[in-house]
Amino acid sequence: MPPHIQRHSLLVAEIALYLAELLKQNGARLNSALVEAGALLHDIAKSRSLSTGVRHENMGAQLLHEWGYLALAAIVQDHVNLDLIRLNGPITESLLVNYADKRVKHDQVVSLEERFYDLIDRYAKTSRQEQRLLQKLQLYAILERKIFGRLTMEPYDLERLQLHSQQRVL
Ligand SMILES: [Fe+2]
Repeated sequence: MPPHIQRHSLLVAEIALYLAELLKQNGARLNSALVEAGALLHDIAKSRSLSTGVRHENMGAQLLHEWGYLALAAIVQDHVNLDLIRLNGPITESLLVNYADKRVKHDQVVSLEERFYDLIDRYAKTSRQEQRLLQKLQLYAILERKIFGRLTMEPYDLERLQLHSQQRVL
């Protein structure tokens, strides 16, 4: 895994784990080890997939599945997209990894808006693609309200945390 993806993954793991611990204090039943491992591995196939054209979440999930880590495979498979069924269900390890990934641009904690506008700049080639990303942003905003509705902190507080992985040099 290249160093920039390692830095991104470490930070996603820190955010996801931080939220999992807070939610657990408020009564949620979450497996922190699964959150941490899923976040660390979510982009395991990102660089490999670039040369093959296979979507990185599919390739990563397949690798983990082959290695026998079925719960992790599902988290990696589901970290890119969000749908209404999952959004209306309970907050899971998978949703926390997915959300934390949308709050980390490269190796920086940012707002959902900043992350999605960066994605639009880099990947949206047509106005239709831009619209789809904006619709996706709306879904993630609902997920954000669902997560933080149970907490006393606000989403932007995550940007102010002193995070270990931002000081770590790889
Ligand atoms: Fe990814």
